[in-house]
Amino acid sequence: MKADVKSPHSILDKYTALLDISCRLNSEKNFEQLLKLIADEATKHVDAERATIFILDKNKGELWAKIALGVSDTIRFDARLGIAGAVLIAAKPLVVEDAYRSPLFYPSIDSNTGFHTRNILSVPLRTPKQEIIGVFQVLNKRDGKFTTEDEHFVQALANQAAIALENAQALSELEIRQQELIQENQSLRKEVEERFTTRSILGTSAKINEIRSIIERTSDTSVSVLITGENGTGKELSARAIHYMSARRTKPFVAVNCAALPEPLVESELFGIEKGVATGVERRVGRIESANGGTLFLDEIGDLSLTAQAKLLRVLQEREVEWVGGRRPVPVDIRLLAATNKDLKEEIRQNRFRQDLFFRLNVIHVRMPALREIRMDIPLLATYFLRKHAKEVGRDIQNFSADSLKTLTTYQWPGNVRELENEIKRAMVLATGREIQVQDLSEHIVEERLAVPEAEAGKKPGQKQSLKDRVTTLEIHMIRDAMAQTEGDRRRAARILGLSHQGLLNKLKRYGLES
Ligand SMILES: Nc1ncnc2c1ncn2[C@@H]1O[C@H](COP(=O)(O)OP(=O)(O)O)[C@@H](O)[C@H]1O
Ligand SMILES: [Mg+2]
Repeated sequence: MKADVKSPHSILDKYTALLDISCRLNSEKNFEQLLKLIADEATKHVDAERATIFILDKNKGELWAKIALGVSDTIRFDARLGIAGAVLIAAKPLVVEDAYRSPLFYPSIDSNTGFHTRNILSVPLRTPKQEIIGVFQVLNKRDGKFTTEDEHFVQALANQAAIALENAQALSELEIRQQELIQENQSLRKEVEERFTTRSILGTSAKINEIRSIIERTSDTSVSVLITGENGTGKELSARAIHYMSARRTKPFVAVNCAALPEPLVESELFGIEKGVATGVERRVGRIESANGGTLFLDEIGDLSLTAQAKLLRVLQEREVEWVGGRRPVPVDIRLLAATNKDLKEEIRQNRFRQDLFFRLNVIHVRMPALREIRMDIPLLATYFLRKHAKEVGRDIQNFSADSLKTLTTYQWPGNVRELENEIKRAMVLATGREIQVQDLSEHIVEERLAVPEAEAGKKPGQKQSLKDRVTTLEIHMIRDAMAQTEGDRRRAARILGLSHQGLLNKLKRYGLES
């Protein structure tokens, strides 16, 4: 027989118990364990046969519960039904002394579980923000009726339970979200890996085929590769392909543009810097070290200072980096890829590039062709960019008119594939029809076509082209560059070109370059 509930001693006991339960509730993070703990404590302290916690599923408008301890079935029902539903709607406690006599009672739960409900004490599960997240019920007081004191105790327990349940639910949602993020991350990684293989390097010309083949052949090694070529020829694209084809693909690919690093920062950026080397300097891990295990891509390596070149050489020889202001070197395992649009041999002759570093980099050499060397690939690339940017530009343009494609194929493309891509994007924005027409292309591209004899289309420069035509093309290029450089200032452009002002005006007129 339990202690008399009315004795002050027993009240104190209950509230001490409540404090203790509250602590345990807060340390239980597993939702199901928590439900069990709450139910166990409630039945024990109010001397009832069973306790049930109904959780409100707001989206479905249903209450659900693990119906009884030890029974793993979950029941769900319309949140407006039964005594639990009534408590939910009224948002206050309810004591039912004879369940089967109450019009609110929903007997099908009993018939499902085989339990016979006599009386019920039911209270809302309310969070501190006054949100009702469910209903808490205690069934069948062993010894008579539920008292007001039971009601207070169960309500107090329910308030603690609501907090703990809310936390546990938030936590499990976080865990689910985290799982989703991990999966998303994995599939994105896979997508990236696929996207950057040699399949991303488009073209059917012999030169592009050869590049794909070299990259595939180096994929199971960690040798350095030097990638040369003009701007916009796909040097970085190839570097990524090399990395994502290699065994290092799951490790970082770190690209550093040496030309973009201001001289005083080059060393700390590449090699890392210890805190306090100069006033206010924070500790910073170098890019070389962040590529550990993976690939470091040094773009525009021809612009690296001689001091940095010496330090880089040391990294390659010793396989360790020395931080600026660091005490001891840190071992690193990187594969180095480097790119440049400069002629490194010439840079060596001018004492601007170290020969020993050059030999280290140039184990394999990949030379990206200028776009004008692979004119046969222009239609393929142009069509690819058309599809690639359709969404972004919001246009459903599938094709080029024969004439516009011919114009694109004839142009010299000083900016190579990058320029082609931008030109296509621009034309897509301006196009009014479902095909790109000549008039959608930039003026200078169309004009060059007019200036260049048909014979050059599809041919390598120098092939079957008269000197006069070549000179004309060159002139147009130089004039355009000078005009771009001076933002259309004809006097300054004339000076750059070594022409008189009038001389330039005449040429602009002759080639139709006046804007
Ligand atoms: N063969 C190619 N196939 C598909 N896209 C290419 C190709 N070559 C270059 N590109 C694209 O052209 C742009 C410039 O290439 P990028 O690698 O940055 O050139 P670089 O590093 O030589 O300046 C990028 O958007 C790249 O994806
Ligand atoms: Mg680049």
